[in-house]
Amino acid sequence: MPEAMRSEQRLNRSHTLPSSKELAWEAKRLESAQPEEILKWGLAVYGERLTLSVSFGGAEGMVLLDMLDRIISDAGAPDIRVFTLDTGFLFEETVRYREEVMQRYDLQLEVIRPWLTVAEQVALYGDQLYSCKPNICCQIRKVEPQERALRGYDAWVTGIRRDQTPQRTDTPVVRWEERFGVAKIAPLAAWDTARVEEYVRERDIPLNPLLSKGYRSIGCEPCTRPVAPEEDPRAGRWSGTGKTECGLHWVGGQPVRAVS
Ligand code: ADX
Ligand code: SF4
Repeated sequence: MPEAMRSEQRLNRSHTLPSSKELAWEAKRLESAQPEEILKWGLAVYGERLTLSVSFGGAEGMVLLDMLDRIISDAGAPDIRVFTLDTGFLFEETVRYREEVMQRYDLQLEVIRPWLTVAEQVALYGDQLYSCKPNICCQIRKVEPQERALRGYDAWVTGIRRDQTPQRTDTPVVRWEERFGVAKIAPLAAWDTARVEEYVRERDIPLNPLLSKGYRSIGCEPCTRPVAPEEDPRAGRWSGTGKTECGLHWVGGQPVRAVS
């Protein structure tokens, strides 16, 4: 379907969407459901107005992409738009992997970029914004593009899991996300790393090559380092700064950004 027609359909909301209270109830009902069931519920309620974000860093987004692709081709469900945020600071390996792995899937990927190129940001703020003021850098390169990416959509599927960070432990399977005006769906909320790895093995999904080179959580190159086996998998993100989240994910209705 042409993009113009899709946008028109998306803006023309024809049915009543679940309220935040109803979503809280759905979260309880779906708490022990398998991720595929949660995705099917999301597709039934939101159809084409549901979108999936994939970072192409970790395995979680790939698991969800694979599940959605299977559900759509088995059930002839609507075409779902997948998006990724390309900050301009991604590892070369991530960008190459993204292009290669998408060949496996029929789903269309939209690459969303910040308004400012890296060169424009350097001219305005200098070349060390990510170390001096990482929250400003994340706002420009991740959060604002994500707001744009979700405009016109009603539901956002994300790969966050409860055991990834202390701030994510209360992640419900679904909840209303006020600041983006969407239902935030986390089908893998209750899965642990071992279960994610098992799915990847079962489905033979190729992963970002950096994951086998000591990187266990991958974001932008300047803010990601490999970790030792005994370290927390996310210890290599914004290492040494105290910052643990880029701001895409709010906790308890509050932004989680430890360092300004
Ligand atoms: S982050 O906030 O610390 O960067 P993390 O790497 O754990 O997030 O990924 C959690 C989820 O956030 C992913 O499954 C994906 O839904 C979303 N996400 C993170 N980075 C991106 C990105 N660059 N593009 C699209 N989605 C992303
Ligand atoms: Fe900038 Fe680092 Fe945030 Fe990427 S993770 S947007 S480089 S501060």
